[in-house]
Amino acid sequence: MSLIDAAREVRENAYAPYSNFKVGAAVRGRSGRVYSGCNVENVAYPEGTCAEAGAIAAMVAAGETELTEVAIIADSPHPVSPCGGCRQKLAEFGRHDTKVTLATIDGAVQETTIGALLPAGFSVEHMDRA
Ligand code: THU
Repeated sequence: MSLIDAAREVRENAYAPYSNFKVGAAVRGRSGRVYSGCNVENVAYPEGTCAEAGAIAAMVAAGETELTEVAIIADSPHPVSPCGGCRQKLAEFGRHDTKVTLATIDGAVQETTIGALLPAGFSVEHMDRA
């Protein structure tokens, strides 16, 4: 199954009763295995989690800490753009040139990279003097 198909499938399970905005995400680990996640909202709104966070958590729980590709899908007018926090989370486990596919359920697709989504991001080098 393609990464975008995995994201499309897991999106169906999103728990989004407050926003009604379901998101699906899938990441490919260095091993080639695919991990997927959906957004999980909460009545205490800040406790909700993004789809990307779920996919990354599944990858790490399976013992992988490197992702080689990302796909994110939602029912939006334009390919869904990950939030700032998720860009930082993706950067933790990917590289600048890691491919990210942003998509809508209508079939619109935008290809980008983690580096393009998070230019000049905070990284471990900034803590060199710590
Ligand atoms: N959301 C994601 O899961 N990923 C994104 O990239 C954008 C936003 C979720 C969070 C919340 O459950 C809903 O979409 C509306 O913000």
